[in-house]
Amino acid sequence: MRILITGAGGFIGALLTERLLEQKKLHLDKKEHDISELVLIDQFPIKQEYNSAIQIQKKCIDISDKEKCNEIFKREFDVIFHLAAVVSSHAEQDFDLGYLVNVDATKNLLEGARRQEKVSRFFMTSSVAVFGLDLPEEIPDKFPALPLSSYGAQKAIAELLVSDYSRKGFCDGRVLRLPTVCVRPGKPNAAASSFVSSIIREPLNKESAICPVPVDLKLWIISPQTAVDSILHMVALAEEEIKNSRTLHPPGLTVSVQEILDELEKQAGDDVMQYIQYKRDQKVEDIVLTWPSRFASEQAKSLGFPFDQNIGQIIESYRSDKLEK
Ligand SMILES: NC(=O)c1ccc[n+]([C@@H]2O[C@H](COP(=O)([O-])OP(=O)(O)OC[C@H]3O[C@@H](n4cnc5c(N)ncnc54)[C@H](O)[C@@H]3O)[C@@H](O)[C@H]2O)c1
Repeated sequence: MRILITGAGGFIGALLTERLLEQKKLHLDKKEHDISELVLIDQFPIKQEYNSAIQIQKKCIDISDKEKCNEIFKREFDVIFHLAAVVSSHAEQDFDLGYLVNVDATKNLLEGARRQEKVSRFFMTSSVAVFGLDLPEEIPDKFPALPLSSYGAQKAIAELLVSDYSRKGFCDGRVLRLPTVCVRPGKPNAAASSFVSSIIREPLNKESAICPVPVDLKLWIISPQTAVDSILHMVALAEEEIKNSRTLHPPGLTVSVQEILDELEKQAGDDVMQYIQYKRDQKVEDIVLTWPSRFASEQAKSLGFPFDQNIGQIIESYRSDKLEK
């Protein structure tokens, strides 16, 4: 089985790569398939070193460049994981780059898949940012995407592309609207939701973190492990199971910022709270306050998607991973 991962040098791309190398196999349609080759693409050189019997090709390619993207498809893929993106605040700041990567590059990849003899499974990560206007308390599985940010609009367009290329039989597309993945290790990134990880990670490192939103703001979150499990679960499903709804909401957790901080204090002691600075940021609020925080996820639940138990477990597993490293 030959697999392509775009955005492989990023947070989720690197975790997915590690997991696939560990498993050595991919489940599709209730069968196990040996992985023979992983092609890892990112616009920046991929720093992660992997040691595996599986053949790995690391390529530094900007997939918004149509010709370069075409070259990736010289040999066919069985599965494509498309994770490369310009994330929320960055896409809001740089309108042209956002459309180039989040829309045009997605189309380049779908065209690559379309030219293949075999129909590949095409997985893409989308976001809750596709919603924004007139939201109910809980988002049902089928709810119109009316985004209030460029990132949300770009992800919604990309979702429609995946759906239409699938309808035409050019690929077998699947999209997951991922909750905010936390705790992200390392440094803050250009996502408007970056503070969600910062307010946990930085205080644990005895560094200060800014909380830019009201503490009663509710968020929809998922742990990195469950995010990767969910991606693999989505790809494993048989086409009949998702044919009428290729875009799903995994069962994420709804928590308020205050609940995150309370749990952090419970686990790490009240000293950690001195590292939190409350400084509202209008730019962050303008994006994050439009995102829904509660989803019914009925279809995903009925399809057996994994889920996190509670915020305590997410913080605990981040802390124990950190200790192991
Ligand atoms: N992390 C989250 O909380 C979250 C939540 C919802 C959706 N998502 C989506 O999941 C995916 C992965 O997110 P992440 O947190 O790993 O992001 P990330 O920013 O860590 O990784 C994205 C990677 O894509 C690469 N990339 C960007 N433009 C590229 C281009 N033109 N050509 C090749 N590579 C390019 C970047 O260099 C980066 O390594 C994205 O599609 C994102 O929109 C993430």
